[in-house]
Amino acid sequence: MSSPAVIESIAGIRSRFAAGAAQLVPTMGALHEGHLALVERALELGDRVVVSVFVNPLQFAPGEDLARYPRDFDADLATLARYPVEAVFHPAAEEMYPHGAAQTQVRAGDLGAAFEGRSRPGHFDGVLTVVAKLLGIVRPEHVLFGEKDAQQLFLVRRMVTDLDIATRVEEVGTVRAPDGLALSSRNRYLDDEHRRAARALSRALEAAGSAADRGVDAVVAAAQSVLMGEELVALDYLGIVDPSTFRPVDDDHRGPARVLIAAQVGPARLIDTDTIYLN
Ligand code: PAJ
Repeated sequence: MSSPAVIESIAGIRSRFAAGAAQLVPTMGALHEGHLALVERALELGDRVVVSVFVNPLQFAPGEDLARYPRDFDADLATLARYPVEAVFHPAAEEMYPHGAAQTQVRAGDLGAAFEGRSRPGHFDGVLTVVAKLLGIVRPEHVLFGEKDAQQLFLVRRMVTDLDIATRVEEVGTVRAPDGLALSSRNRYLDDEHRRAARALSRALEAAGSAADRGVDAVVAAAQSVLMGEELVALDYLGIVDPSTFRPVDDDHRGPARVLIAAQVGPARLIDTDTIYLN
């Protein structure tokens, strides 16, 4: 299969793809099978797929892992060459932000300050700003996001609705390693010991699902006991939210609920999520 065209300029994307012509998969690179599930779904939705690879400085707070975030564009390109992807959009930071960060930005609102946003102030403003720009540049028919980053997905859907952006948002389920760990570019930070400990996140989600018929408190207790039992895992938050509002569920909530977990595992901050059914 021939390699995708590498396009570094906004003008290059705009002249190649008319509005509605492409399916867009936004990524920060260091591609793994989770990203590739998005690419495969995009290819089902249309035959002209654009993958963006851009480590967006705006969504990293000072002191986070922007400088050491894994970057291996040649490997990413070789991976994408296995698929009939038409183009890879790979802009420099100056192409995306010629005026630096002091420009118009999208604000994620109060939901952007909960859960991930509480631990990472400004993160979702940075995510939504770059996604809005990518949608303005590519003007795709569909844009694809993974369930793993559930709050990101929720906020992108909200932005597309609130700002009347003419793109459909498509969700793809979480791809996991055989032992349950959700694939993530940040898993590369884990040594063997931390990699083993990181299984606690998906095991906690399983425990939460098994406790769902005993109510919200039982769900929280079950997940917590798994996470607390692993000393290399420092829990950041455990949340149970209503999928339709992303607000914490009430005690009498019935039906689907989303469990959210974030934890520091040695050098890596990891998140995971799953849907459970409370009855
Ligand atoms: P990144 O972390 O590279 O993820 C790109 C996309 O891949 C996101 O939609 C994410 O949810 C999805 N993804 C990651 N791991 C996955 C897995 N194990 N299974 C399925 N999908 C998975 O998320 C970002 O980049 C950035 O915030 C971005 C949206 C590109 C904006 O900069």
